[in-house]
Amino acid sequence: MPPEKVAPLMTLETTVNGRPVSLPIEPRAILLDVLRDRLDLTGTKRSCDSQVCGACTVLLDGTPVSACCTLAYEAGGREIETIEGLAGPNGLHPIQQAFVDTDAIQCGFCTPGFVLTTKALLAENPRPTRAAIEDYLGGNLCRCTGYWNILDAVEDAAEKLAAVSPHPQPPLPSSRERGLNGPRLSGPRGPS
Ligand code: FES
Ligand code: FES
Repeated sequence: MPPEKVAPLMTLETTVNGRPVSLPIEPRAILLDVLRDRLDLTGTKRSCDSQVCGACTVLLDGTPVSACCTLAYEAGGREIETIEGLAGPNGLHPIQQAFVDTDAIQCGFCTPGFVLTTKALLAENPRPTRAAIEDYLGGNLCRCTGYWNILDAVEDAAEKLAAVSPHPQPPLPSSRERGLNGPRLSGPRGPS
């Protein structure tokens, strides 16, 4: 006798990379599982599964969060951005291109999280200092690069974005000022 199916208990209505999504989910469903297993958005990576490494970072209304420790229902009525949403018809997003140009990628497992965290940083602070970059990226870990090239990539990305938007809007209030501190924790960071 086949196992009895469990009826979905709620519907997740959200937007993922600009597209509306309506999906039956269990209330306990984890956002990372929904993105990877239900929506096939496997660019969001699972590593520590405990809110330490940043590999699973996505943007929720522009704020970086750890998808491994976020309940999917918390994304209801909000905008989710994953790494799959960045590149456009003309190629890579300037932040992605900066990571390529500065050799900030080795195995690439951490890269989606770093790229999305960088996007949030540069939306808040288009010209961050090196110290501000280190601080903002403190929740993202990389086991390969030694971090220096990643810091270079963020600076290069800031220049690339300024070049395509020479008259930028005033920076967004920080996530702290907006009361939107995501669930990410600061972890150890490089360069070390
Ligand atoms: S897998 Fe989510 S923070 Fe590491
Ligand atoms: S490039 Fe391999 S973990 Fe960062």
